[in-house]
Amino acid sequence: MPNVLTSKKKAARRAKPKKESQFLAREPVATYSAVNGAPSTLLDIGHERSCTCKPTHINCLTAKEWMKSQLGVWEFYYEKRDIRDKELHPATFPISMAKKVIGLFTHKGELVLDPFVGSGTTLVAARDLDRNAIGFDLQKQYIKLCQSRLEQSDLFNSSHQFAVQDDARNIPQHLKEESVSLIFTSPPYANLLNRKRKNKSRRGDQRKNGQYLKVEQYSQDERDLGTLEIDTYSEAMGEIYRNLLPLLKPKAHCVINVPDMWWENKRITIHISLVEALRKVGYELRNIIVWDRRNIVNAIGIFGWPSNYITMGVTFEYLLDFWKPPRVDS
Ligand SMILES: C[S@@+](CC[C@H](N)C(=O)[O-])C[C@H]1O[C@@H](n2cnc3c(N)ncnc32)[C@H](O)[C@@H]1O
Repeated sequence: MPNVLTSKKKAARRAKPKKESQFLAREPVATYSAVNGAPSTLLDIGHERSCTCKPTHINCLTAKEWMKSQLGVWEFYYEKRDIRDKELHPATFPISMAKKVIGLFTHKGELVLDPFVGSGTTLVAARDLDRNAIGFDLQKQYIKLCQSRLEQSDLFNSSHQFAVQDDARNIPQHLKEESVSLIFTSPPYANLLNRKRKNKSRRGDQRKNGQYLKVEQYSQDERDLGTLEIDTYSEAMGEIYRNLLPLLKPKAHCVINVPDMWWENKRITIHISLVEALRKVGYELRNIIVWDRRNIVNAIGIFGWPSNYITMGVTFEYLLDFWKPPRVDS
Protein backbone atom coordinates (compact mmCIF):
# COMPACT_ATOMS: atom_id res chain seq x y z
CA MET A 1 0.00 0.00 0.00
CA PRO A 2 1.37 3.45 -0.83
CA ASN A 3 2.28 5.65 2.08
CA VAL A 4 1.40 9.27 1.33
CA LEU A 5 2.52 10.79 4.63
CA THR A 6 4.29 14.14 4.24
CA SER A 7 7.33 14.90 6.37
CA LYS A 8 6.26 15.84 9.90
CA LYS A 9 8.85 18.56 10.11
CA LYS A 10 7.68 20.20 6.92
CA ALA A 11 4.05 20.06 8.07
CA ALA A 12 4.94 21.56 11.44
CA ARG A 13 6.84 24.40 9.79
CA ARG A 14 4.01 25.13 7.37
CA ALA A 15 1.31 25.15 10.04
CA LYS A 16 3.24 26.77 12.89
CA PRO A 17 0.72 28.99 14.72
CA LYS A 18 1.44 32.73 14.61
CA LYS A 19 2.27 34.84 17.64
CA GLU A 20 -0.74 36.27 19.55
CA SER A 21 -0.31 39.75 18.05
CA GLN A 22 -0.35 38.38 14.49
CA PHE A 23 -3.30 36.14 15.29
CA LEU A 24 -5.44 39.03 16.43
CA ALA A 25 -4.41 41.35 13.68
CA ARG A 26 -6.17 39.76 10.75
CA GLU A 27 -9.73 39.84 9.47
CA PRO A 28 -12.20 38.17 9.63
CA VAL A 29 -11.56 36.31 12.91
CA ALA A 30 -10.45 39.45 14.73
CA THR A 31 -13.80 41.12 14.07
CA TYR A 32 -15.63 38.47 16.05
CA SER A 33 -14.27 38.23 19.53
CA ALA A 34 -16.73 36.16 21.54
CA VAL A 35 -14.45 34.06 23.71
CA ASN A 36 -16.14 31.65 26.08
CA GLY A 37 -19.24 33.78 26.38
CA ALA A 38 -22.29 35.06 24.60
CA PRO A 39 -21.68 37.65 21.90
CA SER A 40 -23.68 40.87 22.08
CA THR A 41 -25.14 40.31 18.59
CA LEU A 42 -25.56 37.35 16.31
CA LEU A 43 -22.71 36.88 13.90
CA ASP A 44 -23.41 38.57 10.59
CA ILE A 45 -22.04 36.06 8.11
CA GLY A 46 -23.18 35.43 4.56
CA HIS A 47 -25.39 32.40 4.05
CA GLU A 48 -27.15 32.93 0.72
CA ARG A 49 -26.22 31.24 -2.56
CA SER A 50 -23.97 33.27 -4.81
CA CYS A 51 -24.26 30.82 -7.72
CA THR A 52 -26.85 30.63 -10.49
CA CYS A 53 -27.96 27.02 -9.87
CA LYS A 54 -31.66 26.15 -10.02
CA PRO A 55 -33.39 26.43 -6.62
CA THR A 56 -34.13 22.67 -6.45
CA HIS A 57 -30.47 21.64 -6.89
CA ILE A 58 -28.74 20.61 -3.67
CA ASN A 59 -25.26 21.51 -4.92
CA CYS A 60 -23.33 23.10 -7.78
CA LEU A 61 -22.07 19.75 -9.15
CA THR A 62 -22.40 18.69 -12.77
CA ALA A 63 -24.11 15.37 -13.54
CA LYS A 64 -20.69 13.78 -14.12
CA GLU A 65 -19.33 14.98 -10.77
CA TRP A 66 -22.53 13.81 -9.05
CA MET A 67 -22.12 10.30 -10.50
CA LYS A 68 -18.65 9.94 -9.00
CA SER A 69 -20.08 10.71 -5.57
CA GLN A 70 -22.76 8.01 -5.67
CA LEU A 71 -20.39 5.31 -4.46
CA GLY A 72 -20.88 4.49 -0.78
CA VAL A 73 -17.16 3.95 -0.11
CA TRP A 74 -14.87 6.97 -0.28
CA GLU A 75 -11.10 7.24 -0.35
CA PHE A 76 -8.95 10.33 0.18
CA TYR A 77 -5.35 11.42 -0.04
CA TYR A 78 -3.66 13.95 2.16
CA GLU A 79 -2.08 17.01 0.57
CA LYS A 80 0.77 19.24 1.68
CA ARG A 81 -1.51 21.62 3.56
CA ASP A 82 -3.00 18.83 5.69
CA ILE A 83 -1.94 18.63 9.32
CA ARG A 84 -0.41 15.22 10.05
CA ASP A 85 1.61 16.21 13.10
CA LYS A 86 -0.14 14.86 16.22
CA GLU A 87 1.65 17.49 18.32
CA LEU A 88 -0.27 20.20 16.45
CA HIS A 89 -3.60 18.36 16.61
CA PRO A 90 -4.12 14.67 17.42
CA ALA A 91 -7.14 13.93 15.20
CA THR A 92 -7.52 15.72 11.88
CA PHE A 93 -9.32 14.63 8.73
CA PRO A 94 -8.09 15.42 5.19
CA ILE A 95 -9.00 18.67 3.43
CA SER A 96 -10.13 16.56 0.46
CA MET A 97 -12.79 14.88 2.62
CA ALA A 98 -14.18 18.20 3.84
CA LYS A 99 -14.20 19.45 0.23
CA LYS A 100 -16.13 16.43 -0.96
CA VAL A 101 -18.82 16.81 1.73
CA ILE A 102 -19.09 20.58 1.31
CA GLY A 103 -19.25 20.23 -2.49
CA LEU A 104 -22.04 17.65 -2.20
CA PHE A 105 -24.29 19.46 0.23
CA THR A 106 -23.87 23.19 -0.35
CA HIS A 107 -23.82 25.87 -3.01
CA LYS A 108 -21.29 28.68 -3.33
CA GLY A 109 -21.97 31.41 -0.79
CA GLU A 110 -23.87 29.18 1.65
CA LEU A 111 -22.85 28.69 5.27
CA VAL A 112 -21.07 25.63 6.70
CA LEU A 113 -20.82 25.02 10.45
CA ASP A 114 -18.23 22.84 12.18
CA PRO A 115 -19.09 22.58 15.91
CA PHE A 116 -15.77 20.84 16.79
CA VAL A 117 -13.42 22.54 14.35
CA GLY A 118 -10.03 21.42 15.76
CA SER A 119 -7.27 22.47 13.38
CA GLY A 120 -9.75 24.12 11.00
CA THR A 121 -9.76 21.64 8.11
CA THR A 122 -13.44 22.37 7.37
CA LEU A 123 -12.70 26.11 7.22
CA VAL A 124 -9.79 25.63 4.82
CA ALA A 125 -11.96 23.48 2.55
CA ALA A 126 -14.81 26.02 2.69
CA ARG A 127 -12.41 28.79 1.73
CA ASP A 128 -11.17 26.77 -1.25
CA LEU A 129 -14.77 26.28 -2.40
CA ASP A 130 -16.01 29.84 -1.76
CA ARG A 131 -18.39 28.86 1.04
CA ASN A 132 -18.85 30.87 4.21
CA ALA A 133 -17.98 28.87 7.29
CA ILE A 134 -17.77 29.05 11.04
CA GLY A 135 -16.07 26.63 13.40
CA PHE A 136 -16.02 26.33 17.19
CA ASP A 137 -13.51 24.79 19.53
CA LEU A 138 -12.85 24.96 23.26
CA GLN A 139 -9.10 25.26 22.86
CA LYS A 140 -7.43 28.59 22.09
CA GLN A 141 -4.40 26.84 20.60
CA TYR A 142 -6.62 25.19 17.97
CA ILE A 143 -8.38 28.44 17.14
CA LYS A 144 -4.96 29.98 16.53
CA LEU A 145 -4.02 27.03 14.38
CA CYS A 146 -7.22 27.49 12.31
CA GLN A 147 -6.35 31.13 11.83
CA SER A 148 -2.79 30.44 10.76
CA ARG A 149 -4.02 27.88 8.22
CA LEU A 150 -6.54 30.33 6.78
CA GLU A 151 -3.84 32.98 6.52
CA GLN A 152 -1.76 30.66 4.38
CA SER A 153 -4.50 30.48 1.80
CA ASP A 154 -4.12 33.50 -0.44
CA LEU A 155 -7.24 32.77 -2.46
CA PHE A 156 -9.35 35.77 -3.28
CA ASN A 157 -13.05 35.09 -3.01
CA SER A 158 -16.05 36.73 -1.41
CA SER A 159 -16.67 34.21 1.39
CA HIS A 160 -15.55 34.45 5.03
CA GLN A 161 -14.41 31.82 7.47
CA PHE A 162 -14.47 32.32 11.24
CA ALA A 163 -12.95 30.31 14.07
CA VAL A 164 -14.50 30.98 17.47
CA GLN A 165 -13.29 29.79 20.85
CA ASP A 166 -16.43 28.60 22.59
CA ASP A 167 -18.24 25.51 23.80
CA ALA A 168 -20.35 23.86 21.06
CA ARG A 169 -23.23 24.05 23.54
CA ASN A 170 -23.28 27.85 23.02
CA ILE A 171 -23.44 27.88 19.21
CA PRO A 172 -27.13 28.91 19.00
CA GLN A 173 -26.11 32.18 20.70
CA HIS A 174 -23.95 33.06 17.69
CA LEU A 175 -26.02 32.15 14.61
CA LYS A 176 -29.37 32.96 13.05
CA GLU A 177 -32.06 30.31 12.71
CA GLU A 178 -32.23 28.58 9.30
CA SER A 179 -28.97 30.16 8.14
CA VAL A 180 -26.80 27.02 8.00
CA SER A 181 -26.72 24.77 4.91
CA LEU A 182 -24.38 22.07 6.26
CA ILE A 183 -23.07 20.94 9.62
CA PHE A 184 -19.93 18.91 9.14
CA THR A 185 -17.55 17.70 11.80
CA SER A 186 -15.51 14.99 13.36
CA PRO A 187 -16.39 15.22 17.05
CA PRO A 188 -14.43 13.82 20.00
CA TYR A 189 -14.82 10.02 20.25
CA ALA A 190 -16.22 9.99 23.82
CA ASN A 191 -13.34 9.32 26.24
CA LEU A 192 -11.71 6.70 24.06
CA LEU A 193 -8.58 8.75 23.35
CA ASN A 194 -8.33 9.75 27.01
CA ARG A 195 -5.88 6.96 27.89
CA LYS A 196 -2.28 6.04 27.24
CA ARG A 197 -1.85 4.94 23.65
CA LYS A 198 -0.56 1.38 23.31
CA ASN A 199 -0.37 1.31 19.49
CA LYS A 200 -1.69 -2.27 19.42
CA SER A 201 -2.69 -1.96 15.76
CA ARG A 202 0.93 -1.28 14.77
CA ARG A 203 3.49 -3.90 13.90
CA GLY A 204 5.60 -4.89 16.94
CA ASP A 205 8.79 -3.18 15.72
CA GLN A 206 6.89 0.10 15.07
CA ARG A 207 4.85 0.17 18.26
CA LYS A 208 7.17 2.36 20.34
CA ASN A 209 6.93 5.48 18.17
CA GLY A 210 6.47 9.11 19.27
CA GLN A 211 2.81 8.46 20.19
CA TYR A 212 3.52 5.40 22.36
CA LEU A 213 2.06 5.76 25.90
CA LYS A 214 0.96 9.35 25.17
CA VAL A 215 -2.58 10.52 26.00
CA GLU A 216 -3.83 12.16 22.80
CA GLN A 217 -6.92 13.73 24.35
CA TYR A 218 -7.48 17.43 23.52
CA SER A 219 -7.91 18.60 27.13
CA GLN A 220 -9.18 17.61 30.57
CA ASP A 221 -11.66 20.54 30.55
CA GLU A 222 -14.93 19.14 31.92
CA ARG A 223 -16.81 20.68 28.98
CA ASP A 224 -14.64 18.69 26.55
CA LEU A 225 -16.72 15.85 25.09
CA GLY A 226 -13.57 13.77 24.90
CA THR A 227 -13.62 13.37 28.68
CA LEU A 228 -17.11 11.78 28.80
CA GLU A 229 -17.84 8.07 28.89
CA ILE A 230 -19.97 6.82 26.02
CA ASP A 231 -23.48 7.15 27.53
CA THR A 232 -22.95 10.64 28.96
CA TYR A 233 -21.21 11.58 25.72
CA SER A 234 -24.17 10.42 23.59
CA GLU A 235 -26.57 12.43 25.74
CA ALA A 236 -24.37 15.52 25.46
CA MET A 237 -24.09 15.12 21.68
CA GLY A 238 -27.87 14.68 21.43
CA GLU A 239 -28.43 17.92 23.38
CA ILE A 240 -25.89 19.87 21.30
CA TYR A 241 -27.42 18.68 18.04
CA ARG A 242 -30.98 19.28 19.28
CA ASN A 243 -30.04 22.94 19.69
CA LEU A 244 -28.27 23.06 16.31
CA LEU A 245 -31.31 21.76 14.41
CA PRO A 246 -33.16 25.14 14.29
CA LEU A 247 -30.04 26.71 12.73
CA LEU A 248 -30.26 24.40 9.72
CA LYS A 249 -32.33 25.21 6.65
CA PRO A 250 -34.98 22.53 5.96
CA LYS A 251 -33.43 19.56 4.11
CA ALA A 252 -29.93 20.80 4.97
CA HIS A 253 -27.47 18.01 5.69
CA CYS A 254 -25.50 17.23 8.81
CA VAL A 255 -22.52 14.90 8.37
CA ILE A 256 -20.53 13.36 11.21
CA ASN A 257 -17.25 11.50 10.76
CA VAL A 258 -16.52 8.87 13.45
CA PRO A 259 -14.81 5.52 13.85
CA ASP A 260 -15.88 2.80 16.26
CA MET A 261 -13.27 1.88 18.85
CA TRP A 262 -12.23 -1.06 21.01
CA TRP A 263 -12.06 -0.90 24.79
CA GLU A 264 -11.11 -3.93 26.87
CA ASN A 265 -12.05 -6.29 24.06
CA LYS A 266 -15.48 -4.70 23.55
CA ARG A 267 -16.47 -2.79 20.43
CA ILE A 268 -17.65 0.71 21.37
CA THR A 269 -20.11 1.50 18.60
CA ILE A 270 -19.88 5.28 18.62
CA HIS A 271 -21.59 5.46 15.24
CA ILE A 272 -24.66 3.62 16.55
CA SER A 273 -24.83 5.83 19.65
CA LEU A 274 -24.72 8.92 17.47
CA VAL A 275 -27.35 7.67 15.03
CA GLU A 276 -29.68 6.97 17.97
CA ALA A 277 -28.90 10.28 19.69
CA LEU A 278 -29.51 12.38 16.58
CA ARG A 279 -32.65 10.52 15.51
CA LYS A 280 -34.09 11.10 18.98
CA VAL A 281 -33.75 14.86 18.61
CA GLY A 282 -35.27 15.15 15.13
CA TYR A 283 -32.60 14.38 12.50
CA GLU A 284 -33.24 11.79 9.80
CA LEU A 285 -30.43 9.44 8.78
CA ARG A 286 -29.98 9.49 4.99
CA ASN A 287 -26.71 7.70 4.22
CA ILE A 288 -23.85 5.88 5.89
CA ILE A 289 -20.66 6.21 3.88
CA VAL A 290 -17.52 4.24 4.65
CA TRP A 291 -14.24 6.15 4.52
CA ASP A 292 -11.80 3.52 3.27
CA ARG A 293 -8.47 4.46 4.89
CA ARG A 294 -6.40 1.55 3.59
CA ASN A 295 -4.39 3.85 1.35
CA ILE A 296 -3.14 5.91 4.30
CA VAL A 297 -2.33 3.31 6.93
CA ASN A 298 0.73 1.15 6.87
CA ALA A 299 2.66 -1.27 9.09
CA ILE A 300 -0.47 -2.91 10.52
CA GLY A 301 0.33 -5.50 13.18
CA ILE A 302 -1.41 -8.85 13.69
CA PHE A 303 -4.26 -8.48 16.12
CA GLY A 304 -6.31 -11.18 17.87
CA TRP A 305 -4.85 -14.14 15.94
CA PRO A 306 -5.66 -17.01 16.24
CA SER A 307 -8.62 -16.81 18.60
CA ASN A 308 -10.27 -13.39 18.42
CA TYR A 309 -11.34 -11.84 15.08
CA ILE A 310 -11.20 -8.06 15.14
CA THR A 311 -11.38 -5.78 12.09
CA MET A 312 -8.77 -3.05 12.29
CA GLY A 313 -10.50 0.20 13.24
CA VAL A 314 -7.78 2.29 11.62
CA THR A 315 -8.67 0.96 8.18
CA PHE A 316 -12.12 2.55 7.94
CA GLU A 317 -14.39 5.17 9.49
CA TYR A 318 -18.01 6.19 9.03
CA LEU A 319 -19.52 9.31 7.56
CA LEU A 320 -23.02 9.54 8.99
CA ASP A 321 -25.18 11.70 6.76
CA PHE A 322 -28.39 13.09 8.30
CA TRP A 323 -30.69 15.84 7.20
CA LYS A 324 -33.20 18.15 8.80
CA PRO A 325 -36.49 16.68 7.57
CA PRO A 326 -38.43 18.85 5.11
CA ARG A 327 -41.29 20.97 6.45
CA VAL A 328 -44.55 19.00 6.43
CA ASP A 329 -46.26 21.58 4.19
CA SER A 330 -43.54 21.17 1.51
C1 LIG B 1 -11.74 15.23 16.32
S1 LIG B 1 -11.32 16.88 16.72
C2 LIG B 1 -11.76 17.77 15.27
C3 LIG B 1 -10.68 17.72 14.25
C4 LIG B 1 -10.96 18.44 12.94
N1 LIG B 1 -11.91 17.71 12.12
C5 LIG B 1 -9.66 18.68 12.18
O1 LIG B 1 -9.54 18.23 11.00
O2 LIG B 1 -8.77 19.29 12.74
C6 LIG B 1 -12.52 17.35 17.92
C7 LIG B 1 -12.33 18.74 18.53
O3 LIG B 1 -13.43 18.99 19.42
C8 LIG B 1 -12.99 19.93 20.40
N2 LIG B 1 -13.98 19.92 21.50
C9 LIG B 1 -14.17 19.02 22.48
N3 LIG B 1 -15.23 19.34 23.25
C10 LIG B 1 -15.74 20.51 22.74
C11 LIG B 1 -16.84 21.35 23.09
N4 LIG B 1 -17.64 21.07 24.13
N5 LIG B 1 -17.06 22.44 22.32
C12 LIG B 1 -16.26 22.75 21.26
N6 LIG B 1 -15.20 22.00 20.90
C13 LIG B 1 -14.94 20.88 21.62
C14 LIG B 1 -11.59 19.43 20.76
O4 LIG B 1 -10.81 20.47 21.33
C15 LIG B 1 -11.07 18.95 19.39
O5 LIG B 1 -10.24 19.91 18.77
